[in-house]
Amino acid sequence: MQTKQISFNVAERVSKLTYAIREFVPLAKKLEREGRKIIYLNIGDPLKYDFQVPKRLINALTKASEEGYNYYSLSEGIPELREAIAEKEKGVNGVDIEAEDVIITHGVSEAINFVIASLIQKGNEALIPNPTYPLYMNYVEYYDGKPVYYDCKEEKGWQPDLDDLKKKISEKTKFILIINPNNPTGALYDEKTIKEVLEIAAENNLPVISDEIYDRLVLDGKFKSTASLTNEVPVIGLNGFSKTFLMTGWRLGYIYVRDPQNTIKEELMKAFVSLSRNRLCASTPIQKAAVAGLKGPQNHIKEMVNKLKERRNYVYERINEIEGLSSTEPKAAFYIFPKIDKIKKWGSDKEFVKQLLLEKNVLVVHGSGFGSKGNNHFRAVFLPPIEILKEGLDKIEEFLKSP
Ligand SMILES: Cc1ncc(COP(=O)(O)O)c(C=O)c1O
Repeated sequence: MQTKQISFNVAERVSKLTYAIREFVPLAKKLEREGRKIIYLNIGDPLKYDFQVPKRLINALTKASEEGYNYYSLSEGIPELREAIAEKEKGVNGVDIEAEDVIITHGVSEAINFVIASLIQKGNEALIPNPTYPLYMNYVEYYDGKPVYYDCKEEKGWQPDLDDLKKKISEKTKFILIINPNNPTGALYDEKTIKEVLEIAAENNLPVISDEIYDRLVLDGKFKSTASLTNEVPVIGLNGFSKTFLMTGWRLGYIYVRDPQNTIKEELMKAFVSLSRNRLCASTPIQKAAVAGLKGPQNHIKEMVNKLKERRNYVYERINEIEGLSSTEPKAAFYIFPKIDKIKKWGSDKEFVKQLLLEKNVLVVHGSGFGSKGNNHFRAVFLPPIEILKEGLDKIEEFLKSP
């Protein structure tokens, strides 16, 4: 029988999506199938190394399921989790919100979708840091908006360039995004910088989106939550359980809106509820486990931070000793973002990453995948134990030395 020709094109909004962090994973897997051992330094998943979800959360998840919490929950999330999150944000970050200001999502990834779907339509602009976490640029484009990038300055530890931010605001701007602590740079923004961003937002009547998924993974300095620093600007806070509760595969995050002057909250919360109904709910037993996570002892966070500090110190020192690489010191999260000096040798950071994988079996992420300010850089995680980091960095050093 002759097969029928079907006219089919994947919609452009989907075909143009890219996600640098996973781009070379299929090649790495192919090499693995051919018998090579690959050192993965690409993905920000602590569970791929020697970190584990705390046992008490596994017990809470099992218990929730055994006790019958296996049904669809309310779309906006179970009340006790929204309550526990409001308490956490108040107690840990000084953000004055109530349970009804919180929406539970499938990870911060879904939260990013909800927020951008609600704020951006055709022709609108979004002010996004450069470099950035890729989902922000993807979703703005997906909803026919235009990402407008403001620079972060490497020589200032990747803090936002406020003059550039001001210059980039136009009548079409719908929000300012900050990612603090930052992926991919590991920067932690100081209070003064955040307040200045808030002032710019206030002058221009714009809300600020603040991605704080690494809020408790601070290695040096003090984290300040954006929403705790203003009584004027509406702040849409994004946070989740993947990193600080080591639940990457469980997929749980949240959005809150703090809007002391009540300018946009009501409309925005309605939008988030309707989007959340469109996908029914986040996983119910996992929401139950997250309540236990927030309410019980938090010592796993301190243990994690201590391990990360040791690994950060090693990687930071080592990278700056390697000829041809230099890096600012990451102050939070688990990423380092080194600059490659003689990029001409490979042509681009993307080619550098590909050749490093093919020749030395080490996978990192090309910096340009996080925006143009990432050109000539790569991102590596310092999540693995020091022996693995050493092996990876030895290979990177050999690669840089090779003629
Ligand atoms: C800055 C930032 N935001 C959001 C996410 C998405 O996290 P998840 O969907 O696992 O909550 C990540 C993941 O690495 C991230 O680094």
